[in-house]
Amino acid sequence: MKYDFDEVIDRKNTQSSKWDNVGVRVGNPDALPMWVADTDFCCPQPVVDAVKKRAEHVIYGYPYVVPEFKQATMGWIKKRHGWAILPEWIVFTTGVVPVFNTMAQAFTEPGDEIIIQRPCYHPFGYAIEDNGRVVSNNSLIYQNGRYTIDFEDLQRRASSPKAKLMFLCSPHNPVGRVWAEDELRTMADICLKHNVIVVSDEIHSDLMLFGSKHIPIAGLDEKYAMNTVTCYAPSKTFNIAGLRASGIVIPNPEIRKGLEAQFKRNRGIQQNIFAVPAYITAYSECEDYLSQLLSYLEGNVRFLDDYLKKNMPKIRLVKPEATYLMWLDCADLGFSGDTLADFFINQSLVGVSRGDGFGPEGASFVRLNVGCPRATLKKGLDQILRQYEKNNK
Ligand SMILES: Cc1ncc(COP(=O)(O)O)c(C=O)c1O
Repeated sequence: MKYDFDEVIDRKNTQSSKWDNVGVRVGNPDALPMWVADTDFCCPQPVVDAVKKRAEHVIYGYPYVVPEFKQATMGWIKKRHGWAILPEWIVFTTGVVPVFNTMAQAFTEPGDEIIIQRPCYHPFGYAIEDNGRVVSNNSLIYQNGRYTIDFEDLQRRASSPKAKLMFLCSPHNPVGRVWAEDELRTMADICLKHNVIVVSDEIHSDLMLFGSKHIPIAGLDEKYAMNTVTCYAPSKTFNIAGLRASGIVIPNPEIRKGLEAQFKRNRGIQQNIFAVPAYITAYSECEDYLSQLLSYLEGNVRFLDDYLKKNMPKIRLVKPEATYLMWLDCADLGFSGDTLADFFINQSLVGVSRGDGFGPEGASFVRLNVGCPRATLKKGLDQILRQYEKNNK
C-alpha cells in the first residue's frame, strides 16, 4: 500500500502530548510542536485495522501476552538486524524507559554509578537519579561536526568499583550516530572486562538513514550477548508509542530473572488490550510502511539541510545517520541555554527540544523532530528564518 506522508493530519484535541501539551512541556502553547519523539504520520493501515478489530469486540477485560508476540519479535530482529534470538530471551514490557529504572533498581545499590554518554536521551539520567544512583557521564567528543566516543574516559569510568551498568543509546538520540562495529566492540569489551552490564536502547534502530546499518551490540559475540539487555519496540518505527509495547532481549538467564523479579516486586503496569495486537501486526505486516517512511524522512533531512545551508548558515545540521530527531548546532548564533530556547520557542514559535535538556554539552544545540509532513517542516523553518533574519541584519 502507498502511504501519503505529505498529508497533514490535525492532531489537536486528540490527547496528544506533542500537540496538546506543548505549553506545559515546551513552555509555549502557541509553538509549532517539533519536540517529543513521535511523528505526525498516520500509522500503518494493518495496525489501524488490528486496533479497530479489537476495539469492535465489545469487552476490554484483562489481556495476556500471546505467544505470537515472541515470534513477531524474533522475525523482525532477524530480518531487519540479522540477529537470531531465542523466544525465551524475550520479555514483554510496557515501554523501554521502565527497563532503565527497573534495571537500576535490580542491579545496583543507592550510590552506585551508571554510565551514560551525554548529550543523551534525558530519561537515562532520570532513571539513575530518581533511584538515588549516580550518573557517570562519559561525554561524547564533538569534533568537526561529528560525535565519537572517548574510550579512555569510558575505560576509567567502567573500572570504578561502583560502576555497575551502562545505558547505551544505539543509535544515539539526539546526536544521530549509528555506532560502528569497532566502536561497539570496544564498548562491549570494556564493559565485560569490568563487569558492567550493558543496557542497549535500540528503540530507534529501524530508522536508518542514507544506507547506515544498525548492528545490535549483543549480536556481535555470545560473550557480549550474555552481558547485555537490548531494548526494542515498534513504537518509533510505526508511530504507536501511545500503545505501550516493547520487546526486551536478554540472553543471560540471571539478568533476565533479576529484571523480571524487580518488575514483579514493583507490580509493573500490565499492557492494554490494544498493545499486543498492534505490536504483532507492526512487526509482521508493515515492512512496506517502513521503507516508504525512510525515503520520506531522508527527503525531509535533505530539505532541512538545504534550507539551513541556503538561508541560515549559522545553524548547522549535525549529519544524521539515523532517527527523525535532528541535532542542530547553533553555536554560531552566539547564544545558548535560555536565550537559545527563547529564540526558537518564543520568538520563532517552534517547539523544539532544548539541547541542554540532554546535558550541559547540548547548551548551544536544539533537537528538531522532522517526523512530519514536509509542509509542516517548511512552516517551522520559515518561522525560524523570520527571526533569524531579524537577528542577522
Ligand atoms: C532513546 C529512546 N529510548 C526510549 C524512548 C521511549 O521509550 P518508551 O516510550 O518505550 O518508554 C525514546 C523516546 O523518545 C527514546 O528516544
